[in-house]
Amino acid sequence: MKNFYITTPIYYPSGRLHLGHVYSTVSADVLKRIKQQQGYEVLFLTGTDEHGEKIETKAFESGKTPQEYVDEMSEEIKKMWKIMDVDYDIFSRTTDEFHVKQVQSIFTKLLNQGDVYLGDYEGLYCVSCETYVTKSQILIEEKCPDCNGNLKLVTEEVYKFKCSKYSNTIMGMIQNDKIVIEPESRKNELLNSFFVNGIPDLAISRTNFTWGIPIKENDNHVIYVWLDALTNYITMLEKYDKENFWPSGVQLMGKEIIRFHAIYWPMILLALGKEMPTKMFAHGWLLVDGDKMSKSKKNVIYPEFLVENYGSDAVRYFLLKEIPFGKDGVFTPATFIGRYNSELVNEFSNLVNRSVVMANKYFNGYVEKGIAENEYVDDLQKSLKKVQVLRETYIEKLEFSKDLDNIWDYIHLTNKFIDLTTPWILAKDTMLMKELEVVMFTLLNSIIEIGKMIEPYMPNTGKIIRKAITKNEKGINVPVKMEIIFSRLNEEEEIQKIYGSMK
Ligand code: MSP
Repeated sequence: MKNFYITTPIYYPSGRLHLGHVYSTVSADVLKRIKQQQGYEVLFLTGTDEHGEKIETKAFESGKTPQEYVDEMSEEIKKMWKIMDVDYDIFSRTTDEFHVKQVQSIFTKLLNQGDVYLGDYEGLYCVSCETYVTKSQILIEEKCPDCNGNLKLVTEEVYKFKCSKYSNTIMGMIQNDKIVIEPESRKNELLNSFFVNGIPDLAISRTNFTWGIPIKENDNHVIYVWLDALTNYITMLEKYDKENFWPSGVQLMGKEIIRFHAIYWPMILLALGKEMPTKMFAHGWLLVDGDKMSKSKKNVIYPEFLVENYGSDAVRYFLLKEIPFGKDGVFTPATFIGRYNSELVNEFSNLVNRSVVMANKYFNGYVEKGIAENEYVDDLQKSLKKVQVLRETYIEKLEFSKDLDNIWDYIHLTNKFIDLTTPWILAKDTMLMKELEVVMFTLLNSIIEIGKMIEPYMPNTGKIIRKAITKNEKGINVPVKMEIIFSRLNEEEEIQKIYGSMK
């Protein structure tokens, strides 16, 4: 079996996760399930990025030690993955003892080989993003270009990583697709805006806070988050003896952190003599009614509310369908409820229920695989093959929304198949029973195949279908009473409810 390693960014456990946050990990989970269906051995890592000034401040504000604070918050984040049906294999925490030791020895190695040196740094620093901001990036005076937070001018003694030594090599690798950066637009942005100006050496330590991995060689310093955070992708493989997964697969992340991943991460790996990452994919942002989610705008959507009311499958489906992977997408209560009613209820759920009812009515719940002529049967089978072939290319390019469009095209065709073959008319004529049998078998078989295709996106729904509609060499069995998968919602009411839940 071929290995496939999937990583998400590790989350700052500094607040409650909103719907935008969960997008990174839900899409990774969908990819995991698709790759498993394709026969890969998948290892899926997610986790929490637990050090730094912001966490330290948050912990003290809430009267806890940083360790107590991150212990609690990382449990909350694990709960979120449970709610969202995310099936990760490794939950990586940067306060993990093994990770801490590895990062310390990575630092020592880099220091000893001259890749890290002690220098001075003066610059504008954004506490919220935990990053220095260069003058050229600043759009509004004293404000961070990413989060609009306040910047402070700091001068510190810091350890720096010699980016200049590796910059050209990494740039070349990105240009030649030795490290694949997708979408193409992100790759071009990196090459044209970051690498052309040269990459300044990266500060990798701090003296102004203590909540970080101590540097053994110098008591005044702790390691600054990005060296600590990025290396988790390999330290965790070492911890669990899974090094054979590096560097297969894909690393997923939001577009605002691709530069850390595509520039510094390969440099660190190169300095450590490790293999380069194969592929990184930067997804876009989920906006709400066209805006970035923020508490000040009171437009933050929390997944718990949506899952409680509409189920995790509907939320997962919406995220993957509404946001073309790599681009931004918008959540509005109206589009969410609209898609729920039209795509999940009318097109999909009704198809399943109608078919099961007919299979019970005409064949007592067991439809044999008969032989008879029907002009539409061949067409539907051919369409299925086409849809399955198309899927391969969409999945290869991580075009999840196109994959779903493609599956829904097939759902349309299957609904149309019922209209064209009119089983209720065939059922009136005993001479046409064999034809009816072939029609019903083909229909149920399509539903089994639809169930398989949607299962990575909607694991609960996929499972319901897989358990209820079963096939053997001779025929297909359906239950007497099929659980209704999605039921019609009152649009007005639900839209108001969702607006009411926003904070
Ligand atoms: N800790 C760093 C990552 C270190 S990885 C070595 C970090 N954490 S984060 O909590 O701020 O972000 C985690 C993920 O959530 C990122 O992929 C980020 O892009 C994603 N999102 C946060 N808000 C989002 C939206 N509104 N929409 C889509 N994704 C968003 O960065």
